[in-house]
Amino acid sequence: MATHWWRDAVIYQIYPRSFADGDGDGIGDLAGLRRRLGHLADLGVDAIWMSPWYPSPMADAGYDVADFRDIDPVFGTMAEARALIREAHAAGIRLIVDIVPNHVSADHPWFAAALAAPDAPERDYFWFRPGDQAPNGWRSEFGGPAWTRTPNGDWYLHLFTPEQPDLNWDHPDVRAEFESILRFWFDAGADGIRIDSAALLFKDPALPEVPENGPHPYHDLAGVHEIYRSWRRLADGYPDRALIGEVWLPDAERFARYLRPDELHAAFNFDFLGCAWDPALLRACIDRTLQVHAAVGAPATWVLSNHDVTRQVTRYGRSDTTFSFATKREGTPVDLELGTRRARAAALLSLSLPGAAYVYQGEELGLWEHESIPPALRQDPMWARSGHGRDGCRVPLPWSGDEPPFGFSPTGAAGSPWLPQPPEWKDLTVAAQSGDPSSMLELYRTAIRLRRAEPGLHTPELTWLPTAPGALAYTRGPGFACVVNLSAAPIALPDHETRLLASSPLDGELLPPDTAVWLRLRN
Ligand code: GLC
Repeated sequence: MATHWWRDAVIYQIYPRSFADGDGDGIGDLAGLRRRLGHLADLGVDAIWMSPWYPSPMADAGYDVADFRDIDPVFGTMAEARALIREAHAAGIRLIVDIVPNHVSADHPWFAAALAAPDAPERDYFWFRPGDQAPNGWRSEFGGPAWTRTPNGDWYLHLFTPEQPDLNWDHPDVRAEFESILRFWFDAGADGIRIDSAALLFKDPALPEVPENGPHPYHDLAGVHEIYRSWRRLADGYPDRALIGEVWLPDAERFARYLRPDELHAAFNFDFLGCAWDPALLRACIDRTLQVHAAVGAPATWVLSNHDVTRQVTRYGRSDTTFSFATKREGTPVDLELGTRRARAAALLSLSLPGAAYVYQGEELGLWEHESIPPALRQDPMWARSGHGRDGCRVPLPWSGDEPPFGFSPTGAAGSPWLPQPPEWKDLTVAAQSGDPSSMLELYRTAIRLRRAEPGLHTPELTWLPTAPGALAYTRGPGFACVVNLSAAPIALPDHETRLLASSPLDGELLPPDTAVWLRLRN
């Protein structure tokens, strides 16, 4: 059976501000990225997902889009985006663009027109309401009220910052506009669309308060499915395009509805990302994931990190290894050595589970969350509104050299990196790690190469093997096995023919704590 690429791809997330700076202003851009494509080819990824690159006032780092059909000048031009797509394709790398349908920038022409005249038709594209008080007590996802007053006294809804007014998806023009945007990018050669905040589009027009229990007025309303069915029909009109949803929903059954055969191709597995470094919880999460996806025929995804969450080296180095926005635990003690060791084992785990795997830029370098950025330099609006922010996982990548900007910007650049890089990252640059077999980078390179080569890793099945308490062991196909030791004691390996790759040195024939190994089994 021919497999569609999105079913088992390794997809690398580019956060364009922080990948590589070509013009020396301290902000990453397309020129920098095009010069560094070789890094992605060496890593062996199948696709890149570009976080937003559109014209934007950057109130939320580009997730406030003013024009979905162009590139912000800080990143480059549409001609450069087209060249990037061509060059990536020539290197065998597909490209996914990020579409933000829940809201636009306050600078988007629609919102500007809506503000300009009280009877402008564009007002109906948003959620404007009159009144002395905000229509209800909904809270922004970043903290603070979700309603802001306009100069004429009306209120408008924004589930994120006030610079991100929410669109009214009951309006046919909104639907038509996004179908046209999707076509624009598919016609430009994009291989997929990542859909931002995919479960939030519809709001209960009665605008009730969020109840403690009972139906939520804007999470996961039924209307979204009709939208994604129409997007799927549109995507199916092109060869092999994929729709990938950012769907944060604790209920696995409701999550799976987005992945029915006539809806999205895939969605991010945040259950796995938030799961503790704990064998029973991870095994339950993996089983739940596989079962829920199998029921709708969709591929699972394995996500350890992205531009919104605490980097896994830091997460796994804390006493509580779970992730949630409500409990970011910024500044609580962290053992980076332990976190790194576990992140290495987690890499071999996530890259050997059936489905697609996501790698967030810098994960392959073992970067940790930069938690001591001075408040005055913080950029994330979430920080200002809630006191915990996402800048620490968005710091520009270290490429080479002994001090900032670590080759992120060209030599002699006028601007310093838009967020400060920790000096300790001199040991984590691409140059410092390349060729060092014990480095995180070489672990990822080897793992991704083996993932392509091992026939077992191309089968959809996973079978658990009996193993020591506190460990996870499974086979993929007849020949491949992965064992992860999450216990405090070394464990024996199953009988095998070849040891393919280990996340840390083995102790003779024993697998030490917080270590994973890939094995080829005897036939
Ligand atoms: C998504 C993005 C996040 C952004 C938010 C609003 O969650 O991943 O970065 O702030 O949507 O667009």
